[in-house]
Amino acid sequence: MEKRTSPSALPLQGKVAIVTGSSRGMGAGLAFELARRGAKVAIVYSSPKSETLANDLVSKIASLDNGSEATMVKADLGQIDAGEKIVAETLAKFGDSIDILVNNASVEFDRPLLETTAEDYAAIFNVNVPGPLLMTKAVVPHLRAPGRIVNISSVGARCGFAQLALYSASKAALEGLTRGLAAELGDAGHTVNAVEPGPTESEMLDNIPKHIVEMQKQTTPVEHRVAKADDIAQVVGWLAEEQSRWISGQTISASGGYTML
Ligand SMILES: NC(=O)c1ccc[n+]([C@@H]2O[C@H](COP(=O)([O-])OP(=O)(O)OC[C@H]3O[C@@H](n4cnc5c(N)ncnc54)[C@H](OP(=O)(O)O)[C@@H]3O)[C@@H](O)[C@H]2O)c1
Repeated sequence: MEKRTSPSALPLQGKVAIVTGSSRGMGAGLAFELARRGAKVAIVYSSPKSETLANDLVSKIASLDNGSEATMVKADLGQIDAGEKIVAETLAKFGDSIDILVNNASVEFDRPLLETTAEDYAAIFNVNVPGPLLMTKAVVPHLRAPGRIVNISSVGARCGFAQLALYSASKAALEGLTRGLAAELGDAGHTVNAVEPGPTESEMLDNIPKHIVEMQKQTTPVEHRVAKADDIAQVVGWLAEEQSRWISGQTISASGGYTML
C-alpha cells in the first residue's frame, strides 16, 4: 500500500496553467479556482472590452496572497498563431514549462439551419475546434509530465437543441479531439478530459433561448437551477490535480444530472 499524505491546502502550488476565455463567465471562475489552489495562471481573452475584466481578475488573484499569480494574454483563438503567442507570453512570465491547459474559450451560435451559412460554419468552428487543437499543439512541447488538459464542452454535444446544431457539432468535435489526444499523449502520464457543463450563469447563457434554459432547469435533478461558475470550477480543479491521474479520455457531465450518459 502506498503511504498517503494529507491533502495540501495548495495542491497546485508551483504549477503553471493557461485558461483560455478567462476574462469573464465560466473561464474567470475556472482561472480563479486554479489560482486558489496555488497555480500561476495565464488569463487569455480576445476583445478590448474584456481587458478591464481580465485586469480585475489578475488583481483578485494577487489579493489571494497564497503564492499564486496571474498574467493577461490577448489573443484571438480563431487565428492560427494564437497558441504560439499564448505559450510564449506564459513562459516569458512563469518559466520553462506548463502543467495545466484549460481550453475554455468558445463562441455560441443560435440560428435556424436555413439562415446558417458556410461563413458561419468557418467562424464558429475556427474558434471552437482548431482553436483548442492548435492551442494544445503549442503547449505540448512544454507540458511538464504529468500534464493536465481539460476541454470545456457542453451538454449540447450529446443533446439535440433546435437552432444550436452548429454549436453542438463543434462541441461534439471537441469531445472527439479529447479522446484522440488522450490516446496520443498518455505515454508521458498526461491526461486529457472534457467537461460538459449544462446551463451556467454567464453572458453566453443570456443569449441562449429562454425556453431552452427553462426546460433545462425543470429537467435538472439537482435543485432545478442553472450552474454557477464555481460548480464547474470544482470539477476542473479536481481534474487539474494529481489525484485525477487515472481519468483520461473522459467526458464528464457537470450539469446537476441534466445529462446522465
Ligand atoms: N454558459 C453556459 O451556459 C455554457 C453551457 C455549456 C458549455 N459552456 C461552455 O463553457 C465555456 C465558457 O462559456 P461562458 O458561458 O463562460 O462564455 P462567455 O461568457 O461567452 O465567455 C467566453 C470567453 O471566451 C473568450 N473568447 C471568445 N472568443 C474568443 C476568441 N476568438 N479568442 C479568445 N478568446 C475568446 C471571451 O473573451 P473575449 O470576450 O475577450 O473574446 C470570454 O472570455 C465555453 O466553451 C462554452 O461553450 C457554457
